[in-house]
Amino acid sequence: MDAKRLERLEKKYKKSADRQLETPPKKHGPGPGPRHGGPGRMGGAKPKDAGKALKRIFSYIEADRIKLVFVLFCVILNTVASLAGSYMLRPIINGLTEEGGSVQKLFGSIVLMAGIYLVGVTASYLQARIMIGVSQGALQRIRNDLFGKVQKLPVRFYDTNSYGDIMSRFSNDVDAIGEMMNNTIVQVISAVISVTGTFALMLYTNVWLTLITIVMLPLMMKAAGFVGKRSQKYYKAQQAALGTLNGYIEETVTGQKVVKVFCHEETAEEEFHYLNRDLRDKQIKAQFFGGIMGPVMGNFSQISYSLTACIGGLLCVLRGFDLGGLTVFVNYSRQFSRPINELSMQMNTIFSALAGAERVFAMMDEAPECEDKEDAVGIAEKDGRFYWEIPEEQEKYTYRKEQPELKPEVVLQNVYFGYNPDKTILKHITLYAKPGQKIAFVGSTGAGKTTITNLLNRFYDIGQGCISIDGIDIQDIRRDDLRRNVAMVLQDTHLFTGTVRENIRYGRLDATDEEVVEAAKTASAHSFIMRLEHGYDTMLEGDGANLSQGQRQLLNIARAAISKAPILILDEATSSVDTRTERHIEKGMDRLMADRTTFVIAHRLSTVRNANAIMVLENGEIIERGDHEELLAQKGRYYELYTGLSELD
Ligand SMILES: Nc1ncnc2c1ncn2[C@@H]1O[C@H](COP(=O)(O)OP(=O)(O)OP(=O)(O)O)[C@@H](O)[C@H]1O
Ligand SMILES: [Mg+2]
Repeated sequence: MDAKRLERLEKKYKKSADRQLETPPKKHGPGPGPRHGGPGRMGGAKPKDAGKALKRIFSYIEADRIKLVFVLFCVILNTVASLAGSYMLRPIINGLTEEGGSVQKLFGSIVLMAGIYLVGVTASYLQARIMIGVSQGALQRIRNDLFGKVQKLPVRFYDTNSYGDIMSRFSNDVDAIGEMMNNTIVQVISAVISVTGTFALMLYTNVWLTLITIVMLPLMMKAAGFVGKRSQKYYKAQQAALGTLNGYIEETVTGQKVVKVFCHEETAEEEFHYLNRDLRDKQIKAQFFGGIMGPVMGNFSQISYSLTACIGGLLCVLRGFDLGGLTVFVNYSRQFSRPINELSMQMNTIFSALAGAERVFAMMDEAPECEDKEDAVGIAEKDGRFYWEIPEEQEKYTYRKEQPELKPEVVLQNVYFGYNPDKTILKHITLYAKPGQKIAFVGSTGAGKTTITNLLNRFYDIGQGCISIDGIDIQDIRRDDLRRNVAMVLQDTHLFTGTVRENIRYGRLDATDEEVVEAAKTASAHSFIMRLEHGYDTMLEGDGANLSQGQRQLLNIARAAISKAPILILDEATSSVDTRTERHIEKGMDRLMADRTTFVIAHRLSTVRNANAIMVLENGEIIERGDHEELLAQKGRYYELYTGLSELD
């Protein structure tokens, strides 16, 4: 790889690695973004407010309070048993060395010691078993809460956050929390008890020897801190490099067709090698520093051990310190530093879990779609007719109580809207759609056609103006009822894993099999479905990967056709379907929507020719309106689009 290219790569990926080292970004820019296994987990990244995150994690465990108390009891029992078990060595050894010791006494002590260890082992087994249940239960609740939240978030959230980032909160971040719950919590409790208990027993056994440990302790802590800090730094870098590499793999695998089309295989391989090498270098450093923690601590522990043994030996000879006491003491001096070592090695798990928890909780705290108004109007369906449900407290629309039947008459009055407050996309949109009418939106790419449909079913709320159905402001309608009654075929198709039948039925869950077939026929999907291997029972996976683009669109149309909604929006619904099939669908839909209102968006102008009114949008404004003939006669923008004249300028 030449130097220039290398420099460019370094610049590109340095940026992305740095980004991953920062606190989790809200929005991922272009470039390799994380998906599964991405840098979402941000191992080692320091959490902003560790205490708060920890408290909230505990609030999820709290539900199992009784089990937790039992775990605590088992941990204490286990630690105490282990301390007591090793203390038993003292009478055993003293019994052997002192005069008058008997085999019987020795045997008794050994049985007692075995008993104590057995209690310890049982407690440790129970504690592990119960703690797994507790932590998995907590994770289940976290995932439930998170998914519940995902269903309530506004479309704006999805438009501004990358899919990979959202995914990694469910996978990596939750996993990181789980790892900490499974191991670290018990370890911390056990370490605290063990260190305190050991220290007490050391003091009890011999105060002078304990002094050696007290002197060694700060030295050990300092060394652990030094190595730990280094390893944490490299561990962070390693995770960032891992994230970048994962992001790159994800991007290249999902975009494999584009890679092939532009023959970028070799470049992709080169870039991959570069990133892979970077990961290797960082991993070597991280693992080296992570790996030397053990030996360094081991050395200190050895020194402390030898000093204790030497001085203890002297005490035995000169001061009559008992041999049993010395044996248990040297054991304790080993035992004392072990939990401290183990905990220092757990710091990365704790940090990544807390950082993960913050990301999970940040998503849980995102503002959901605003609540319906207290007096929001509902819509009910009965025998194919629709009725307004005006609640008692609703004062604005009391007059509708007498004539509750809904007429799908859609009015937009002077609507202004922008996705961001600083940029207005739609300006001065006013239109009137009578029941049964077909209104078309045409206009160049980015003109704002899809944006209008986003407003009709309240994916976004408008900034200024009013949108009403049958005289009722859509802001005053219960959001669920509104969406149930505005069927939509979105510009980007989406199919769920499941059979063809299930996918069509998604439009109305109580539809019968006959209705499914009927809807498929309306959408001209029946004949191709029958040609599939298992007909309506064919499984669709990966967003309908085994279907053609046009077939996917037909299923999306069938899904909308099965819903009895009085208002239908088709956003480029037939853009990938051949013109003959399109004509068929049009006829079927016209029949279906005879007394309903349809909004159609299409670039292929032949599709909208028979619409009652065509709105020509340009830069978010309606610049021309009328039916096909009128617009052609005007010789304006529509004429240009229709005759292809605009391509010439
Ligand atoms: N989620 C969004 N956030 C911010 N701006 C957006 C968003 N979606 C669309 N826009 C902007 O709004 C404008 C109108 O987009 P819209 O999707 O309505 O166009 P369109 O007329 O449907 O185009 P096309 O024919 O390509 O589907 C565009 O300039 C686009 O950049
Ligand atoms: Mg669009």
